[in-house]
Amino acid sequence: MRIAIINLKGGTGKTVTAVHLAAALAVQGRTLLVDADPQGSALSWSEEAEGLPFAVVGLPVRNLHTRLNDLLPGLTHVVVDTPPGDRAIVRSAIAAAEVIVVPIAPSIIDLDRLRPTLDLIAEVDAISPSRAFVLLTRVRAATRSGRLAREILADVGGVALLDAQIALRESLSTSFGTIPSGDNPYQIVLDELMAKELAA
Ligand SMILES: Nc1ncnc2c1ncn2[C@@H]1O[C@H](COP(=O)(O)OP(=O)(O)OP(=O)(O)O)[C@@H](O)[C@H]1O
Ligand SMILES: [Mg+2]
Repeated sequence: MRIAIINLKGGTGKTVTAVHLAAALAVQGRTLLVDADPQGSALSWSEEAEGLPFAVVGLPVRNLHTRLNDLLPGLTHVVVDTPPGDRAIVRSAIAAAEVIVVPIAPSIIDLDRLRPTLDLIAEVDAISPSRAFVLLTRVRAATRSGRLAREILADVGGVALLDAQIALRESLSTSFGTIPSGDNPYQIVLDELMAKELAA
């Protein structure tokens, strides 16, 4: 499976999502995490955390969709972490992926800024269709914000909202540079993505 993690807004949980999904995928087969963010957060993460169960390469380029083809032989899964703001790189990551995951916190600011990302997905999908899913992250337990965000996102066209969500967790806020543990909270996200892909 080729998954791109995108959101044109910064700080929405893309890199945390990319690393943890790659760790969950690595249990199933040879997985590569492509860091397409020129800031190189995922690459730095892999420098800190020696022994990640997948390889990480930096490829902050605008022709990912063609460059990935050279890397694919021998790989079962590829996850692409993308930068905020760089539309050309994000566009090429969308074109390179079968599945798009858009992590977003259930805050009004983040929800309000989602439209440009959805428009970009729609623009690229007109040429090379993928399947796009919004993932709620940093959801505070027992608060209204998560439920409210679900209601708002249910009415947004073009993408599906995943049932699986990621809670606001101290262990994830401090996870930079660490190896995802056995009880990876992103496993349920992967299970749902896999089920949806099989059903598609
Ligand atoms: N579920 C979570 N619970 C608590 N903190 C989280 C969670 N997910 C992400 N964070 C924290 O939120 C911040 C932003 O996450 P991350 O770096 O993954 O976002 P990003 O979208 O990759 O940012 P950028 O756009 O700058 O690349 C980080 O400090 C991270 O540790
Ligand atoms: Mg990032």
